Amino acid sequence: MELIKGHEIPQASLAIVDALNQAVAETTVTTMLAQNFHWNVTGMAFGPLHDLFQRIYEDHFEGQDDLAERIKAIGGHAQGTLSGMVARSKVEEHEGEATDREMIAAMAIAQETLAETLIGACDIASEKNDKLTEDLCIGRAREHEKFAWMLKSHLA
Ligand SMILES: [Fe+2]
Repeated sequence: MELIKGHEIPQASLAIVDALNQAVAETTVTTMLAQNFHWNVTGMAFGPLHDLFQRIYEDHFEGQDDLAERIKAIGGHAQGTLSGMVARSKVEEHEGEATDREMIAAMAIAQETLAETLIGACDIASEKNDKLTEDLCIGRAREHEKFAWMLKSHLA
């Protein structure tokens, strides 16, 4: 049986796959960071911060899955080990012992780092004319910039 020909999946490019794996790694590390802060945050703003960190890790859990599945759709290998993700991530792990303001600042930096990584991935996808990866990365970067704004608004 012949495969139905229609939309052509772009040729897997090592540069795109690598950029997406970088984004998966940093999104996964930030997912854990948000859950860590969701558990350990203290202070008078406990309720809303507990909820905001939950909203972040729920968003990121879906985000990392979408990015990894895009790697598979273009024929690449999704790197799925935690040790490998932590090793390559520009977002760093955190012990979870900090004031609420320090947690907000650390999470804002993580969101800005993620936005930057995704915009870089978007540029690579654009060079290769991979519009669907580009669109995915634009959407993810937009979410991270929104979270960065929400977090930094607490510190104004
Ligand atoms: Fe919870």
